[in-house]
Amino acid sequence: MKIISSPLELKEYLKDCNKTVGFVPTMGALHEGHISLIKKAKRENELLVVSIFLNPTQFLKGEDLDKYPKKDEADKKICQLGGVDVLFFPQISDMYGRDEVSLLAPKVRGFVLEGASRAGHFNGVLTIVMKLLNIVNPTRAYFGKKDAQQLNLIALMTKQLFMSVTIVPVDTLRDADGLALSSRNAYLSPSEKKEALKIPASLYIASKMVSKNIMSSKEITNAMREHLAPLEISYVEIVNREFESIKNVELKNTIILVEAKVGETRLLDNIWL
Ligand code: PAF
Repeated sequence: MKIISSPLELKEYLKDCNKTVGFVPTMGALHEGHISLIKKAKRENELLVVSIFLNPTQFLKGEDLDKYPKKDEADKKICQLGGVDVLFFPQISDMYGRDEVSLLAPKVRGFVLEGASRAGHFNGVLTIVMKLLNIVNPTRAYFGKKDAQQLNLIALMTKQLFMSVTIVPVDTLRDADGLALSSRNAYLSPSEKKEALKIPASLYIASKMVSKNIMSSKEITNAMREHLAPLEISYVEIVNREFESIKNVELKNTIILVEAKVGETRLLDNIWL
């Protein structure tokens, strides 16, 4: 596995490669969820690039940038074992200058839900993903469905900016208890972990209701909120694949999303119906 930290060196390295390139961007602290992205990208492409970059511009003031888990050596090992060909491992100064051009998330889709509680977050995400895609120029880039709004906005960006990369959504991985895997789960104490299980359980309740033909978003979100109490809920929302609120679940066109705080940790989860 080649490890490269300079964007220009990576561009040069990939310039004449006549292979399909799969790309998995990450912020490190790799877990089974990342490994499933890596495995899928490995299967579907001839060359695999993974990036590890803890992107400061997507964290708002007071968020967990400073305490975000760092596991550089373990991450490198995971990449090596996963058959990664190139690990891109830049420093902040490699990725950002002092006076920066940056992208703005779309005014509607970028500022509801996660974008409403974290105004500016998606500007940072889109800017770094754009930079990474321009450096790697991959055939396919892989993103988890757990960050559904991020995935949606990245797919929209690549479409609206006429980029040739294919964005590949990857299913959420859960632990044995049903909790969606996330680097932030490392913050949870055992009792918080128990509380956090209310989140996937609320989504299970929602899917059960839909299987009984209860399609009203209001009825479903009320039942979910009841189950989530007393967690601090940022949002429980039912949207279509365009991220517009919908009054009734539309099969094959619906995402049910939750964000709630457990202790000091914000956790996201969703199901796609
Ligand atoms: O999902 C993440 O880990 C990050 O938001 C991403 C896409 C790597 C951009 O920093």
